Amino acid sequence: MSLFITFEGPEGSGKSTQARRLYERLAAASYPVIVTREPGGTPISDLIRRIVLDLQHSEMVSTTETLLFSAARAQHVAERIQPYLALGGIVVCDRFADSMLAYQGFGSGQDLDELRTLTRIATGGLRPDITFYLDLPAQEGLDRKRKAAQRPSNASPLSPRPPEAGPQEWNRLDARDLAYHERVRSGFLELVKLEPERWQVLDAHLSMDELSARIWHVIEPRLSGIRPLEDHTA
Ligand code: TYD
Repeated sequence: MSLFITFEGPEGSGKSTQARRLYERLAAASYPVIVTREPGGTPISDLIRRIVLDLQHSEMVSTTETLLFSAARAQHVAERIQPYLALGGIVVCDRFADSMLAYQGFGSGQDLDELRTLTRIATGGLRPDITFYLDLPAQEGLDRKRKAAQRPSNASPLSPRPPEAGPQEWNRLDARDLAYHERVRSGFLELVKLEPERWQVLDAHLSMDELSARIWHVIEPRLSGIRPLEDHTA
């Protein structure tokens, strides 16, 4: 058995912190676990990330954007996620294919069925077992992220940082208008309605500790089929 856990939410919802905390708790309990993020997670996918999120690429058309996110995802699934799940591990991923439906679909108005087909090609049909959605009004999320992005950093604004790392980058999608981000949020809520058994919706206004506790409450009962690391070597 394996477990594929994803975190989704609007900008600034705190999902990257929660993904990292969950990873740390699972690792501390000796479960075989990795934490990763999209777009990114492999050297090739991180290079694609730089292209697709670069603020200077304002001329990028929506088809290019969608194909780039999909290409990054195909490499990530094949090189990192799928092999780890095949070993019986737990993969915690900060954003996955639901972000494409929310951003490129509900946000940019691309056809949802076409995006689903493309996603099936990119993922080989892999779907998360559990998806946490940290809900926050679009304006609040953007304000939170803008503040975080203004904190000083030595890192390049588009460095392929892991999800836990310091000040956040302000990217090409963040720079879109409020109406776009509101469509993304209602898109996520539509996706939740379509598949309520997979999604866990959490209010991102809760404290980080309260959110972590609720997430653990959902995950703990699902761990019975996962063998802790010492068992793997036995
Ligand atoms: P990131 O800085 O990682 O933002 P966040 O902290 O909000 O996750 O940037 C990822 C951006 O890419 C984010 O704006 C959502 C967007 N995105 C898509 O539009 N489509 C996708 O398929 C994925 C994975 C992300």
